[in-house]
Amino acid sequence: MSAILIKPSDRVFVLTGAGISAESGLPTFRDSDGLWAGYRIEDVCTPEAWERSPADVWAFYSARRAAGQKAQPNPAHTALAGLEKQLPGRFFLCTQNVDDLHERAGSVNLLHMHGELAKSRCERACGAEPVEDDRVYANLNEVGRCACGGRLRPHIVFFGEMPLGMDRIRREIRQSTLMLVVGTSGSVYPAANFVHWARFEGARTVYLGPEAPLNADAFTHVVEGKAGEVLPGLFHLEA
Ligand code: APR
Repeated sequence: MSAILIKPSDRVFVLTGAGISAESGLPTFRDSDGLWAGYRIEDVCTPEAWERSPADVWAFYSARRAAGQKAQPNPAHTALAGLEKQLPGRFFLCTQNVDDLHERAGSVNLLHMHGELAKSRCERACGAEPVEDDRVYANLNEVGRCACGGRLRPHIVFFGEMPLGMDRIRREIRQSTLMLVVGTSGSVYPAANFVHWARFEGARTVYLGPEAPLNADAFTHVVEGKAGEVLPGLFHLEA
């Protein structure tokens, strides 16, 4: 397909999902070999799972940390970091991913709406900030506590919790004229609605992934392919 034009007047909003890290060796969630084929969401990724068995939740996220630490950014992460450099002040990256491959590729203007694997925070709403923590815990006894006495939990948005940074995200979408969505199945809200919000603002909306997402109808272009193969040549910047 021909490259997508980025005009000098464009502001670009990018949303990424697990598919952009697939070529780095990290499993997605809903593909046939994905994480939710081997685990039940309600056992490892809900506030109720945390209350019932923090050990199971930490075992799951410790395994994710171990895998994330071994992975390297792929050409799709690098292409987005390069695009940001070419569009100073006109580029915003929102990721649903909790891995740090975007920042390791060089992305700066980046928001992790579903949290970050390499941080932990107090299980209580005590006001303490999340802390850097990339330890792979062998058991619950190793997990520290906050000054208030609460146990540290992964800094991850569980199902049923509010995604992070929604005010900023809404503001960025309102200002954008081009939305690129990469490697997400369009099955988790509110992220699956971003394309509708962008369309409402009159933006062009592009999806890139090996298969059409559930919300494919809302995109002005659907580009079928692997992110690492297609993204580096997807855009043409008009001078
Ligand atoms: N390049 C681009 N996309 C790919 C690639 C690839 N190489 N390989 C797979 N994909 C696509 C799949 O076609 C699928 O549409 O990535 C998508 C992954 O979808 P999901 O597994 O549902 O992941 P995601 O949409 O990111 O999940 C959203 O769900 O479980 C929660 O919090 C978790 O952030 C996650 C959210």
